[in-house]
Amino acid sequence: MSEDANKMWGGRFKSAAHKVMQTINASISFDKHLWRQDIAASKAHVAMLAKQGIIEDEAAQRIADGLDRIAAEYARDGISEDPSLEDIHMHVEARLTELIGPDAGRLHTARSRNDQVATDFRLFVRDACDEADAQLASFQEALVNRAEAHAGTIMPGFTHLQSGQPVTLGHHLLAYFEMAARDRSRFADARKRMNLCPLGAAALAGTSYPIDRDATASALGFDGPARNSIDAVSDRDFALDYLMAASACALHLSRLAEEIVIWASQPYGFVKLPDAWSTGSSIMPQKRNPDAAELVRGHSGRILGTLVSMATMLKGLPLAYAKDLQNDKPPLFEARELLTLCLEAMGGMVADLEFVPGAMLAAARAGHATATDLADWLVREQDVPFREAHHIAGAVVAAAEARSLTLEDLSIGDLKAIDGRLDEAALKALGVESSVASRDSFGGTAPDQVRMQIKAARDYLARR
Ligand code: ARG
Repeated sequence: MSEDANKMWGGRFKSAAHKVMQTINASISFDKHLWRQDIAASKAHVAMLAKQGIIEDEAAQRIADGLDRIAAEYARDGISEDPSLEDIHMHVEARLTELIGPDAGRLHTARSRNDQVATDFRLFVRDACDEADAQLASFQEALVNRAEAHAGTIMPGFTHLQSGQPVTLGHHLLAYFEMAARDRSRFADARKRMNLCPLGAAALAGTSYPIDRDATASALGFDGPARNSIDAVSDRDFALDYLMAASACALHLSRLAEEIVIWASQPYGFVKLPDAWSTGSSIMPQKRNPDAAELVRGHSGRILGTLVSMATMLKGLPLAYAKDLQNDKPPLFEARELLTLCLEAMGGMVADLEFVPGAMLAAARAGHATATDLADWLVREQDVPFREAHHIAGAVVAAAEARSLTLEDLSIGDLKAIDGRLDEAALKALGVESSVASRDSFGGTAPDQVRMQIKAARDYLARR
């Protein structure tokens, strides 16, 4: 081996790698984020090697102590990157060699960087699932708190962004609670499925050393060892699972972000953005821009992009490991960083938004949102077939519109002129309060139903 050849694998090489080869090959600039997982997995591995009598106890102890020292150094000083050392695994091993000498070379017995990186990465993604779950729980908490205060606050419920039927703000907010609950269950499923340990799969075929895969798996908090060594080193569907859950979650956050943008606009005025969540304009002094909400909307697109990037990287790969797989990390790291930020921002905005019930109520009245209630009243009280009732209610809307009135502004006389069967009680059906109170089917918008949903939501949060 020449002096220049790579220390880790250069035994049969005569010269060093081309500079560009080094650059394209190196992953330390991003996989340094795996150092905690890498050291934890190495400690579990070396303890198992000693217990199985594969290496001497004394060497194992020196390796473990060295690894602890490296962890302390990294935590204190960060990692000084050396692209010729390619990745985090080689950085740790090189430093260990500096610290304890040739015994460091025993650590890599009965493993390969292939099972090593697959293990590190699973540990990382597992943490990311736990983090998302905790953040989603806080987001849900914020939603329930606001929903409770606004269980009876009336706003227009929309379809096609047209005023549809009046709803309560509490009901609307709890819709996002449900989405967040499903997001959490997606992360939980992903976590459960990924929680099998690749360590011991070695390069791809397993190893001839008498290792104990159950021991390393349990030391690292896995439910057991991954069953097939070829699969264990080559698939990254656990990362896809995370990114799919993250994408679904980000899309939900994006919808709420879009609503905040709409609600905060002047024509709506349903919410006031507090100073803490607004930005100003350098030229238009009146501005209070919802930049955080817009960025959540924007970031959700980037998160979806990471899913596409990971899936595309995997789709054409023959088994088992190929270096393409090194590209699994940047998209996942990006998604995790963005999702964390989006969840923090949305949780914060939901907690701090100032709702304007007066503007919501006025919009619910102005949009003729109780036309369906009038039709339902005719069906229920006058036994009119729904199609005919729909027609009569339509005529009532037209009459109000022609005079720029809300439905509630119409008089009995106005109604009677359209259909003789309409009376005092019909007029009451046109009120948004009675409309909302009447929708008390399970899961409906009536304040009493919303309070039941809040109770269920609180029970759920107490359980998780
Ligand atoms: N840095 C590599 C990665 O992240 C580690 C595995 C290298 N394995 C190999 N056969 N070259 O994928």
